[in-house]
Amino acid sequence: MEYREIPRSDLKVSLIGLGTMTWGEQNTEAEGHEQMDYALEQGVNLFDVAEMYPVPPVAETCHETERIIGTWFADRGKRDQVILATKVVGPGTHVTHIRDGARLDRPNIMTAVEGSLKRLQTDYIDLYQLHWPDRPVPLFGGRDYNPPRRDDSVPIEETLKVLGELVAQGKVRYIGLSNETPWGAMKFLQAAEGFGLPRIVTIQNSYNLLNRTFDAGLSEVCHYEDVRSLPYSPLAFGRLTGKYRGGVMPDGARLTLWERFARYNGPNSDAAIEEYARIAGEAGMSLTQMSLAWINQRHHVASNLIGATSMEQLKENIASVEVNLPGEVRKAIDTVHHRFPNPCP
Ligand SMILES: NC(=O)c1ccc[n+]([C@@H]2O[C@H](COP(=O)([O-])OP(=O)(O)OC[C@H]3O[C@@H](n4cnc5c(N)ncnc54)[C@H](OP(=O)(O)O)[C@@H]3O)[C@@H](O)[C@H]2O)c1
Repeated sequence: MEYREIPRSDLKVSLIGLGTMTWGEQNTEAEGHEQMDYALEQGVNLFDVAEMYPVPPVAETCHETERIIGTWFADRGKRDQVILATKVVGPGTHVTHIRDGARLDRPNIMTAVEGSLKRLQTDYIDLYQLHWPDRPVPLFGGRDYNPPRRDDSVPIEETLKVLGELVAQGKVRYIGLSNETPWGAMKFLQAAEGFGLPRIVTIQNSYNLLNRTFDAGLSEVCHYEDVRSLPYSPLAFGRLTGKYRGGVMPDGARLTLWERFARYNGPNSDAAIEEYARIAGEAGMSLTQMSLAWINQRHHVASNLIGATSMEQLKENIASVEVNLPGEVRKAIDTVHHRFPNPCP
């Protein structure tokens, strides 16, 4: 395993991070535990969860993923070997079952963190992330920013002060953002400087061969501001394994199970995937491995957050750290990206 330091922190994370959001829905508790055992054995030290998981977020299964990680810690006693990242939800109609009127304000964040600590059976979180901003921004497939008619979003300074309190109390070690924009990231960094509050160390956004929007602005923020990325959905919900090619809908697979994730379908994504599959084939590697290895080699990445519903998938995904993409493969990938830019933002 390769490890990368996150600047201005003592975090040294494995290049592959373990995504967990299928546990409690597509995966059982025992399967989640097996994944953690194997990943840790392979040197994976970053586990990423959220109070909202598993997905899709519904009342019946809500919080199950954190609970599954908690029972693993209680049983294995390996808390000190893991860099544990979780998240607090922002506002949204899809999370009213978590807290009606959830906002990134003091009461909500304090309630969220106490719940996460309890379920995770730990007294500290290594990386506490805002799952998405309190203000309206293009999210989960959205493309364009539209100014709100009435802006009642929680001020960034207010949110950051609460996070600062949690850091001072030792409940949280470092903080990060998710589904953020360059403007939001810079505002958090400026507020940290202005008020002497903790700095964000990571940004967790969707990033894969079908969505390279991070590279337009946030990659520059990462470079100049000593922030690192934690790319999520590196296989575009499984599309970049090639298993949906030719219109196949595999039994039990995420995009077969839930129509709501249709943002990862679409004509330009099909065309781009065909091209990426051709490049991978010519380079003698699987599309999955090429897609993951491409992320592993990007300059802003600290840890590539993979997800798996079986041990075979988990093994293949972790093994992507062994794959080195030659320059001509990266160039061929860029050519396809220029023809089909970001079909699935
Ligand atoms: N911050 C956020 O808003 C956010 C959003 C999404 C994810 N995340 C984080 O990122 C992690 C990973 O995201 P993701 O699950 O969307 O990642 P992904 O890599 O895009 O998709 C993972 C899914 O693809 C399929 N798959 C993975 N490896 C495969 C392989 N080798 N062969 C065939 N199929 C394979 C599996 O689903 P099937 O078996 O069902 O096909 C698996 O659950 C999450 O667990 C979570 O921690 C964060």
